[in-house]
Amino acid sequence: MLKNKIISLVGARPQFIKEAIIASEVYKTNAWNHILVHSGQHYDTNMSDLFFQELQIPTPQYFLEVGSSSHGKQTALVMEKFEDILLLEKPDMVIVYGDTNTTVAGALAAAKLKIPVAHIEAGIRQKPKDMPEEINRVVTDHMSSLLFCCSELSSQNLKQENITKGVFISGDIMYDLFLRMKPHFLKEKMLHDFNLQEGEYTLITLHRDFNVDNKENLVSILEGLKGFTEETKLSVIFPMHPRTRNRIEEFNLTKYLTFMNIIPPIGYLELMGLLEGCTNVITDSGGLQKEAYFAEKQATVIMPDTGWREIIKSGWNQLVPANKAEELLPCILENKSIIYPENLYGDGKAAKVIVENIMSYLNR
Ligand code: UD1
Repeated sequence: MLKNKIISLVGARPQFIKEAIIASEVYKTNAWNHILVHSGQHYDTNMSDLFFQELQIPTPQYFLEVGSSSHGKQTALVMEKFEDILLLEKPDMVIVYGDTNTTVAGALAAAKLKIPVAHIEAGIRQKPKDMPEEINRVVTDHMSSLLFCCSELSSQNLKQENITKGVFISGDIMYDLFLRMKPHFLKEKMLHDFNLQEGEYTLITLHRDFNVDNKENLVSILEGLKGFTEETKLSVIFPMHPRTRNRIEEFNLTKYLTFMNIIPPIGYLELMGLLEGCTNVITDSGGLQKEAYFAEKQATVIMPDTGWREIIKSGWNQLVPANKAEELLPCILENKSIIYPENLYGDGKAAKVIVENIMSYLNR
């Protein structure tokens, strides 16, 4: 029987991570002819190549090289260039991941050519409705034929929008990857390289537009972090996204960088190594707040709301919006006695469920 052809579209860091686990399951089961397309939304070595090397992701067959620009332009560029690939390759399905501009562009281009779309990490919903990632999620979910949810809550979110067909609760592929790569996390190396003591430092990441592009919010967060480190005497390690570095320079806020150990963006194994060794996490990353939970570390999430509401509901992670960043310390102290909530995002076998269901959809 002729094998189905599926195009998997990636473009930004969190998608490379997810592709790693799906590609490995596809190759293991020889499920279909898998074509990888990289939009080029992230392009710096530390934001892209490093992930391909570390996670042994096969080199993409196509690079669209869209680079950075405004939302409209970036999304349009991915659509335009991806459509050419779709017309050339005529795939049986397109897989998109998460909530980036690459995700929504891929889903729209495919759906308009009547190519079915599988959305991995479907059904996440977060306020405010006008944040770019939320717009991307909602549009992508409504374009998709198969929707793989990390949790029951995500599938309920879809039901509220009348999306019930093709919905599967697969669990989270990021948990699959976490369990698989755990023996390779570079904890000792990172502790050594950055002169950190295990259990005596906080891991920070920050990159959301609403936190870093708004000077008032950024100052409030940096003040909150300063107060937190002065009180706790914990060291701080902060792998910094280029967007955040650019804004700190533009807003003349470099004085805040002296009390933190700022390092360039790092790969998955390095970040997970830092995570394993830290006391706690402060972040606005969707991925890291969940990885903190996988590693049984508590995260303070600098957002007014999060898509990963299960962890907040359990009390393990807590939300602190930018304008209340002075509450960081009391929040972290108060949060210490919570019992670890098990199994919020499946059993680490999400990729198997996803690949099997895609196969049965295509062979129906
Ligand atoms: C994007 C996603 C976000 C995801 C994040 C992971 C959207 C709307 N947002 O946000 O959901 O959590 O990726 O990192 O798609 N830049 C570089 N080098 C790079 C990439 C970006 O210098 O390799 C700089 C550019 O100045 C760019 C800025 O970072 O304008 C933002 O990059 P962009 O991809 O637009 O958004 P992210 O903030 O990374």
